[in-house]
Amino acid sequence: MKTRITELFGIEHPIVQGGMHYVGFAEMAAAVSEAGGLGVITGLTQRTPEGLSKEIARCREMTDKPFGVNLTFLPAVTPPDYPGFVQAIIEGGVKIVETAGNNPQKWLPMLKEHGIKVIHKCTSVRHSLKAEAIGCDAVSVDGFECGGHPGEDDVPNMILLPRAAEELTIPFVASGGMANARSLVAALALGADGINMGTRFIATQEAPVHENVKRAIVAASELDTRLIMRPLRNTERVLDNPAVERLLEKERTLGAALKFEDIIGEVAGVYPKVMTDGDVEAGAWSCGMVVGLIHDIPTCKALLEGIVSEAEAIIKGRLAGFV
Ligand SMILES: Cc1cc2nc3c(=O)[nH]c(=O)nc-3n(C[C@H](O)[C@H](O)[C@H](O)COP(=O)(O)O)c2cc1C
Repeated sequence: MKTRITELFGIEHPIVQGGMHYVGFAEMAAAVSEAGGLGVITGLTQRTPEGLSKEIARCREMTDKPFGVNLTFLPAVTPPDYPGFVQAIIEGGVKIVETAGNNPQKWLPMLKEHGIKVIHKCTSVRHSLKAEAIGCDAVSVDGFECGGHPGEDDVPNMILLPRAAEELTIPFVASGGMANARSLVAALALGADGINMGTRFIATQEAPVHENVKRAIVAASELDTRLIMRPLRNTERVLDNPAVERLLEKERTLGAALKFEDIIGEVAGVYPKVMTDGDVEAGAWSCGMVVGLIHDIPTCKALLEGIVSEAEAIIKGRLAGFV
């Protein structure tokens, strides 16, 4: 399948793996890229620029196909060493960066100067247009369904994607709620040039996370995610568990008085406990509503080839049959 996204990134299938904290290690990115998609290392999971340099080098040992690095700009009192991370990306010879969390304008000249393509992930048409205006090469349009941070506008992809298609000139991928061939066909029909998946990639053979996490995803339904931190205007979609219920109870009780410190026990330092140790009830961790469509733990190759070949069959068969 050829789209503006496969052309832009030099990949076989129009399928991107979004950056995921404590999931996007070299093993994940390499497996997706080897399978013909675009794998992405999560920059900040490597605590230092040196750590990221090593992770990039490890990934390069596992694949000679293109892969990217995610740079998430977090609201933080003491920000991570972003200049160092950008330098590690440039020196590591990475040619694709997925930015998220905040406007990447400050870093674009440096990235562009080194021939790096930037795909910015955002949750609204206005932010997508801003990304286009500042010179991003593509956007990942992340709907309300998505795992992680859906923003505060609550516009699902059935509306957000065709709205993005009305306004954008640069290519974009549909992010949030994407899992299978039907997702890909629908995304293309709604105007996107491909799909970005997070949650679906966690339940794959190669995802370097504890088996408990994969099992929790397969067991969950589309009714099992919750939105947390809405009162802090830092909404996150997570898989429900007792820690999340505890957190939501605090949100209900404290109302507008809620502060980050009140819920720190349920959100801070959770990822290594969940993803590495397999303690899936250690706290709140991102997960999309798409979890309801995930019923197996395939290899990335089987997953991507299945999505693309079945999508082609849907387009040539069922859809062509209507006209
Ligand atoms: C466990 C997990 C961790 C994530 N961590 C990040 C992150 O660190 N940076 C980021 O930009 N997006 C992060 N995301 C969002 C994904 O990159 C992607 O945009 C999202 O999962 C798409 O929605 P889906 O889960 O419905 O496919 C994370 C998602 C999950 C499920």
